[in-house]
Amino acid sequence: MTELAYHRVASTSDLDDGDVREAQVGGTLLAIYRLGEDFYATAGICTHAYARMAEGYVEGEIIECPYHGGAFEIRTGKAVAAPCTHDLKTFPVRVDGDDVLVGLPVVQPA
Ligand code: FES
Repeated sequence: MTELAYHRVASTSDLDDGDVREAQVGGTLLAIYRLGEDFYATAGICTHAYARMAEGYVEGEIIECPYHGGAFEIRTGKAVAAPCTHDLKTFPVRVDGDDVLVGLPVVQPA
């Protein structure tokens, strides 16, 4: 099982329902979403080309890419609209008090 380290990426008050914002942890660019009282994290870059998902449009539980109209389910990262065919990677999210934390794999020294 992959060991995860949780990193603070936002405060709960930074996002309203339906918001998306960008966060960076080390070299990993993320998109952080709020749907109701729940928070989600996906890769920050579209799987079709180099679009930043935080510049996209949240429609219900879908994030639409700002470039070519591709779209993904926020909760699962599943690609649901062409030209996107590869799912977005998703990351586990925890809320600790006011902190939104995202779990990323711990890189083991070689
Ligand atoms: Fe996202 Fe093309 S870059 S749909």
